[in-house]
Amino acid sequence: MTNKYTDIINFDKNHVWHPYTSMSNPLPSYVVDTAEGVHINLKSGEKLIDGMSSWWSVLHGYNRPELNNAITSQLSKVAHVMFGGFTHEPAVELVRKLVSLSPEGLDKVFISDSGSVSVEVAMKMAIQYWQSKGQANKHKMMTVRNGYHGDTFAAMSVCDPVTGMHQIFDNVLMKNIFAPAPSIMFDELWHEREMEPLTALFAEHHQELAAFIIEPIVQGTGGMRFYHPNYIKSVRALCDQYNVLFIADEIATGLGRTGKLFACEWAEISPDIMCLGKTLTGGYLSLAATLCSTEIAETISNGEASCFMHGPTFMGNPLACSVANASIDLLLQNDWQSQVKQIETWFKQHLIQLAEHDRVNNIRVLGSIAVVETHQAVNVATIQKHFVEQGVWIRPFGKLIYMMPPLVISEAQITALIKAIATALPHDDYFIE
Ligand SMILES: Cc1ncc(COP(=O)(O)O)c(C=O)c1O
Repeated sequence: MTNKYTDIINFDKNHVWHPYTSMSNPLPSYVVDTAEGVHINLKSGEKLIDGMSSWWSVLHGYNRPELNNAITSQLSKVAHVMFGGFTHEPAVELVRKLVSLSPEGLDKVFISDSGSVSVEVAMKMAIQYWQSKGQANKHKMMTVRNGYHGDTFAAMSVCDPVTGMHQIFDNVLMKNIFAPAPSIMFDELWHEREMEPLTALFAEHHQELAAFIIEPIVQGTGGMRFYHPNYIKSVRALCDQYNVLFIADEIATGLGRTGKLFACEWAEISPDIMCLGKTLTGGYLSLAATLCSTEIAETISNGEASCFMHGPTFMGNPLACSVANASIDLLLQNDWQSQVKQIETWFKQHLIQLAEHDRVNNIRVLGSIAVVETHQAVNVATIQKHFVEQGVWIRPFGKLIYMMPPLVISEAQITALIKAIATALPHDDYFIE
């Protein structure tokens, strides 16, 4: 290895924070050189098949000419300009697309810079909406256990305190209301009894509730759980009955992952507010959007403040909007539904071989998302090293070895991902007792 390579590794280890790892004894970070299609190429020479889409974001694979071109052609026009007092074609085109594609009734779009911020925006919109209607008492959120909505303060306050990783901040977070997590899974038989605890909580708390927030169908980081669409349908009905806004956090599920363009479509409902992020730019740049109904936007605008009280510096960044437009175009031009269905079929066919393994508790697949839940938690450092040696990139956490590859993945590449998991399972030192 060259001096430059070891210098990157050493400087990184000593000075650069990485997510969810110690600064004094960090998990290893592998040095990326380039990425192309489904491959991430390391400086040390390994070529890894990406099973993670860089945390749900790289939908079409890396280094896509269509997306590169969108950024470079926008770059020569304007890279960034403030959104206060200016507008531009990339942002207007993006909002036009989002309004036309999203569930009915979501006509106003607030563009922001990351998923967590779009959740903050959604929660603030809900609170400001009720305040503008003279009902400032409606300022709390209700959600379900096992949820994850981001790492900023308001977002943390609706994450599951345990699986959502934020218990440590408990005494400074807004006190919101938690219902039990949905317990009937996606393919299981529905029973109305499922809604009894939530119905009781709506009846008890509706006068103080601004909104109910949930990740529709797929609870991601809080457990990778796929639950029944009727749950979402019933939440919509309860929100209507009790005058509570419904926020759908589609940051992970939006734009195709579950087999529908938006996961809310499984339940054939429209939320009042919807958050998008992650793959909005095909994984190229950080961008998010909070969509809401005309009624919410008008109520806020006619309220005491006469505007919504939020305005990030990089709101509507032209480069990010341009690549988002190109990514959405690419998604719609490709037969994305068949791609997702095909990946789902491959996962189901090839993951079966792991089902009987003593270490495996449960295997589940929905759209292009696959989860191998183990009985023991993984040792991230040792199992990750194995995956890299096997030529794949899978980043498990807790008892969850999960994948959501770029949609351009092939069957042979899916089987390589699964083989890497299969060969990891017998190793005691890859798991924590
Ligand atoms: C459902 C959901 N909401 C919000 C977020 C936060 O998004 P970001 O990491 O872009 O802030 C995430 C990120 O994992 C997520 O999965």
